[in-house]
Amino acid sequence: MKYTIKNICCIGAGYVGGPTMSVIASKCPNINVNVVDINKEKIKSWNDLNLENLPIYEPGLKEIINKCRGKNLFFSSDIETNISSADMIFISVNTPTKKKGLGAGEASDLKWVEASARQVAKFASGHTIVVEKSTLPVKTAEVIMNILEASQPVGEFKKKSFDVLSNPEFLSEGSAIQDLENPNRVLIGGENINAILALSNIYMKWVPKNKILHTNIWSSELAKLTANAFLAQRISSINSIGVLCEATGADVREVARAIGTDNRIGSKFLDAGPGFGGSCFKKDILNLVYLSKYFGLPEVANFWESVVTLNNWHQHRISNLIVKKLFGTITGKKICILGFAFKANTNDTRESAAISICKDLLDEGAFLSIHDPKVSSKQIEIDLNSAPLSTSTDSLEILNLNIVESSWYFADNIIDSIEGADAIVVLTEWPEYSSLDWGKIARSVRNPCCVFDARSILKKEDVIKSGLNFWKIGDGSKSKK
Ligand code: UDX
Ligand code: UDX
Repeated sequence: MKYTIKNICCIGAGYVGGPTMSVIASKCPNINVNVVDINKEKIKSWNDLNLENLPIYEPGLKEIINKCRGKNLFFSSDIETNISSADMIFISVNTPTKKKGLGAGEASDLKWVEASARQVAKFASGHTIVVEKSTLPVKTAEVIMNILEASQPVGEFKKKSFDVLSNPEFLSEGSAIQDLENPNRVLIGGENINAILALSNIYMKWVPKNKILHTNIWSSELAKLTANAFLAQRISSINSIGVLCEATGADVREVARAIGTDNRIGSKFLDAGPGFGGSCFKKDILNLVYLSKYFGLPEVANFWESVVTLNNWHQHRISNLIVKKLFGTITGKKICILGFAFKANTNDTRESAAISICKDLLDEGAFLSIHDPKVSSKQIEIDLNSAPLSTSTDSLEILNLNIVESSWYFADNIIDSIEGADAIVVLTEWPEYSSLDWGKIARSVRNPCCVFDARSILKKEDVIKSGLNFWKIGDGSKSKK
């Protein structure tokens, strides 16, 4: 039987659900797209008339919201009504790593997915296609189907019927809209060809047919985990080589350029940095590790686990290196952190390398001034589990008062954050950090001041010319001061 989709409901208005549904609404004006979330505050922000107050920052997002919201794109807390009227339901809720119980620290916590499936089971009407958008462990579709089937009255005429599809998201934060509008591929895993076609038809409104891949449901679920594991593996690989470059006098950028021109390797995802962050990489690899162990494959589990182990080690290596270069102690020293988001062009801080590096520096007694163009002071407070000092007090005054050990403040502007600093650490590749006036900065820091470029975005000559000490990730070349 052919399915026509007129009403979509997406459960979860987060970094994935919000942008994905916005793009579907903008490409399919004849479909009503309703995005629901248990978090009422978030829904309020999605409906805010001031588009600067949307809950997430993504280039190009507010323009689409402006075009579609209130026409065929709606954000609502009314989960029941929107599930009940939907022909297709996307599950885009978060799936963090389990903190306790079986598989703690590795397996995904599926409680939100399960809760969503139960809501769908209860409120859905007629035939509903349920689409897994969240990254899930392999075989989750089976769990969802079991929950949906269990809601059916035994032996009676079935009023509801379901199909479950896997349609993993490959968008990258910071370029989500671009990735959604021009995807490398769309992957749809499932068993019922009519349900697969119903979803394919939606994407075919803007994605060429040859880019829409159909697989069985488990291949689709596993492909998502594998894609993220491969990408993360490249970063751990290049970061490990960067350390070797620092030790040997090589330059990791030159090595990356040399190997990236081999088209079997390719040039992307070879930027050495402070370690990968984001909500997906670590979680998805740990999922693979759990899965491998579960199926009695310890060698496979160890192989993938080492990608995460290297990443954790690498982040601590950077904080240790900062302490070492500042003469073995940073107690009471002012360190300016430029960038807190896990990458540029997003306000997302989940698993950001900045979190563990800042925590290490605070543990060592440093006084941090933290700047990020999009991350809020409140978010940093949550991530560091430590309240900021009042920004109304001048940072130099705070330094003079000697109340600075293991504390931080949120710097609204870069110049304020740098004043009196003993070190400046670039942790996110925001474009504004690559065009700073180092001559001016050198006059407002406390000498000897060291600049740490963990993203390789600063012009080495400019920093050195200004008289500041300089360290750059993966750079072992001798011209360094
Ligand atoms: C997504 C995916 O779903 C996750 O599996 C993937 O690995 C990363 O991307 P993301 O959109 O980034 O998650 O998560 P988040 O921004 O936290 O949004 C999830 C939303 O779901 C939240 O707003 C939360 O309030 C909502 N939610 C959660 C519900 O509406 N119902 C629930 O039962 C649980
Ligand atoms: C990733 C995947 O790219 C995307 O396909 C999937 O759907 C979700 O997970 P995301 O986490 O949003 O996307 O961002 P990504 O651009 O992959 O960056 C992840 C982390 O790796 C960031 O901390 C980034 O700074 C880091 N990174 C990336 C590097 O350190 N070096 C690189 O060369 C590339």
